[in-house]
Amino acid sequence: MKALAVSDTVAVIGAGTMGAGIAQVAAAAGHPVLLHDAESGAVKRGIERTAAGLRKLVERGRTTAGEVDALLARIRPAADLAALAPARLVIEAIVERLDVKQSVFRELERVCAERTILASNTSSISVTAIAAGLARPGNVVGMHFFNPAPIMKLVEIISGIATDPAVAGCVHATSQAWGKQPVYARSTPGFIVNRIARPFYGESLRMLAEGTAGATTIDTVLRDCGGFRMGPFELMDLIGIDVNFMVTKSVYEAYFQDPKYRPSLIQQEMVNAGYFGRKSGRGFYRYDAQEPAPAIPIVAPQALAGSVTVHGSLGPAEPLATALESRIGATRNGGDGFIHAPGVVVALTDGRTATRRSADESIADLVLFDLALDYGTTPRIVLAAADQASQAARDSAAALFQALGKQVTYVDDTAGMILMRILATLANEAADAVGQGVCTPADADTAMLFGVNYPRGPMDWADSVGLARLDEVLANLGAALGTDRYRASALLRRRVAAQRGFLA
Ligand code: NAI
Repeated sequence: MKALAVSDTVAVIGAGTMGAGIAQVAAAAGHPVLLHDAESGAVKRGIERTAAGLRKLVERGRTTAGEVDALLARIRPAADLAALAPARLVIEAIVERLDVKQSVFRELERVCAERTILASNTSSISVTAIAAGLARPGNVVGMHFFNPAPIMKLVEIISGIATDPAVAGCVHATSQAWGKQPVYARSTPGFIVNRIARPFYGESLRMLAEGTAGATTIDTVLRDCGGFRMGPFELMDLIGIDVNFMVTKSVYEAYFQDPKYRPSLIQQEMVNAGYFGRKSGRGFYRYDAQEPAPAIPIVAPQALAGSVTVHGSLGPAEPLATALESRIGATRNGGDGFIHAPGVVVALTDGRTATRRSADESIADLVLFDLALDYGTTPRIVLAAADQASQAARDSAAALFQALGKQVTYVDDTAGMILMRILATLANEAADAVGQGVCTPADADTAMLFGVNYPRGPMDWADSVGLARLDEVLANLGAALGTDRYRASALLRRRVAAQRGFLA
């Protein structure tokens, strides 16, 4: 599909956080840009913010003063919507209200040429609804940039029911020409990123509520063992707990109160207290005081008193088996995937609590370990012991991983532990989105990699851990915590039956 020509005019409506950034992106690509805002002075302020940001880049030697001047000269203020008539593409980034957006689109349709593409940067409103009632709804498309627009690569290209595929194709190609990483999405609540990311927050809040671990521990585990740049609680503090709560509520309502998306009482209480995160000085962490964040619990060094045998394959944790063989001379034997260390049986979580599994399999001294993105490089291994396990068994399991140079953290024995629970629910949500035709598996991964900087796309990550294993984790999470919330996606079930991955 053909992108816009560089000589085509791009109009941006709304010169706030997003609009000013989008205008910069289009101008940087060489387009003449018209910038309009209903509030007097907003365009001037928007351009000044852009100019200040670009001057910093000049200071750092990333661009030249000449290029910045040329870019800024391409952005011209437009006094009213009628002045946007020459635009080939209009991108709306105004207040997030359907009625206001609809009236702007009606007016645009009146003033713009018949083939002008009308795009909305909405993050939560149905593109189908924005286009409803227009004479040319086929020209309307979602172009969802991420904040800050000049830096974040992802653009979700959203088609409503009436969107002309050629229009979606044109903005996709245009975004690509602007150096962005576009993905196609069908207009559904949360589109791709804001939908697939729900469990990252929702399950973490549940773990906090269930007493699995404190916010600092959950954040540290997801950073250290999961490779996420930020943990869910520090991220909610950054985004604003009120903003995150609002998005959560809107997705929950939009999916007719599907329990998968149910918000948490913890979020609600934080908002009630005015603890919005960084911007209010206090959220899950304190920003208003010198108080250090609570330390993450680490097991003191323990001695490994005896030999270790690895039984069968550890699946995704197989690199641990190899390390145990080479580092401490562990032997291999048959079995269904567990480690026998002095006085303890150690296994990767399958979604059951250690206590449940200990009872099911009649192993008193059972300790489970959590998933890691890369067992070779993770500095930390997370463990949970069955209630029946002795202190000696817990110490011996810790010693096993300490012998590999890992820090060991025990968390409370809850179903699915931390990273395994997050990955299973993220991948399941991605599978649901793909199964419902919202996006392709490859675009689901691209969206999470470039929209929220995940360390690995959830589909690809799920394939590497094994879909049958994740299906089992979800079933066990469901048995422990409620089957509706953890129901496996039809696509996941189907791929498991076919013994195929999401991307294969
Ligand atoms: P903002 O509040 O920073 O800017 C909105 C601007 O639109 C203001 O300058 C306001 O004066 C102007 N405006 C309001 N009504 C208008 C109208 N009828 N005609 C012309 N101008 C009007 O808001 P922000 O954050 O830039 O968001 C804009 C849109 O982008 C919303 O739809 C939002 O959901 C979406 N979005 C926001 C993201 C974010 O992180 N802030 C990320 C992605 C999308």
